[in-house]
Amino acid sequence: MEPLLNDLVDLLRSRRTTSGWTIPRLASALSISRPRVLRTLDEIQGLGYQIKSDNHSGIHLIAVPDRMIDTEILAGLKTRTFGCQLHCYRRIGSTNSRACQLADTSAPEGTIVVAEEQTAGKGRLNRSWHSPPYLGIWSSVILRPKLSLPRVSGLSLLAALAFAETAERELGLTVDLKWPNDGLIQGKKVLGVLTEVSAEGDRLSYAVCGTGINVSHEAVDFPAELRKRATSLKLAMGQSIDRLAFFRAFLGEFEHAYRSFRGEGITPFLPEYRRRSILLGREVVVQQGAHTVMGTGVGIDENGALVIREGRRDVVVFAGEVTLREPSARNSGE
Ligand code: BTN
Repeated sequence: MEPLLNDLVDLLRSRRTTSGWTIPRLASALSISRPRVLRTLDEIQGLGYQIKSDNHSGIHLIAVPDRMIDTEILAGLKTRTFGCQLHCYRRIGSTNSRACQLADTSAPEGTIVVAEEQTAGKGRLNRSWHSPPYLGIWSSVILRPKLSLPRVSGLSLLAALAFAETAERELGLTVDLKWPNDGLIQGKKVLGVLTEVSAEGDRLSYAVCGTGINVSHEAVDFPAELRKRATSLKLAMGQSIDRLAFFRAFLGEFEHAYRSFRGEGITPFLPEYRRRSILLGREVVVQQGAHTVMGTGVGIDENGALVIREGRRDVVVFAGEVTLREPSARNSGE
C-alpha cells in the first residue's frame, strides 16, 4: 500500500477505541492539506476500509478489509524475520516462482510473497494448484538454512505441522497429516506445501517453501473433480474465517518452529508429526514413476523420508505419490 494510505490507516487504527480523529488533526499529523485528507480517506474506503464519521465523536476506523495487503498482514504480526520483506499481489502466476526470482537476486531469509489469486499455481509432482481469488492463503517464504541438502526436505513436513498446530490452537480443528506435506480435515485436503530448492553442489543456496491453504471456499468454489477430496477451513468450521488473523498466526507458528529446525532439522518434531500422520501403521502404496512400493508405513526418518516395511525389508521413500490401500472411516477421502 502507498505510504500515505498506510500512514492514514495507522493513525486511524491508533484511535480505534478512544476519541476519533478530525480532518484538521489528520491533516496536521500527516502534513498534508485537508482536501488531500478527504481524498485519501476515499481511497482507503475504496480498498475496503470502513470508516464512521460524525460531528460528535469524529472519524473512526470500524472495519478493515479481508485482503492480503501489506499493512493488514503486518498489523499485529509477531515474527522476527518472516515478513521482513513482504510482496503482495492481487494476481500472479505462482508465488513460489516469484519467490525463487527474488531469492536469486539476494532477497533475505524471511521474505514472503503472497497473492490473492494464482493463475499458474504449482502443486507437487508437476500438478497445478487451484488458487481462486480471495478464498485462500497462497504464499511462499524464502529460507536459507545451513543444513545438508537431504535434511532440507524436512521443511515441507515442518510447514504442514505448523499449519496443523495453528488450525488446532486458533480454530480447535483436528488436522491429520499425509506424508509428506498434505493437511487433511476428515480425510479432505485443506493444505498443500511445495518446497523448491536451489543448490550449488551439495550446498543449499535457498529454499522456497510455498503453502496453499484453502480458507474461505464453499464446496462450489472447488472444481467438480476436487470437490470430494478438498475442503476449506470455513467448510470445516461452518463459519467464516478471518484469513489475515489465521495467516499471521500461521507465520508466527512456522517461524517459531523454523528457528529450531535451522539447528536440528526435523528430528525434534517427529513425535508430533508421527502422532498426526495417517500413514503410520497403515497399508500404503507409493508410486514412484514406473516403480511401486507396497507395504506398511512404519516411520519418518531424520531427513523427513517415509519408511515403508515391504515384506522383511524397510524401504526409505524420499518422494512419490502415496495412497492408503484401505481408507479408514476418519480419512475416507483418500
Ligand atoms: C501440493 O499439495 O501439490 C502442493 C501445493 C502447493 C501450493 C502452494 S500455493 C502457494 C505456493 N505457490 C505455488 O505455486 N504453489 C504453492
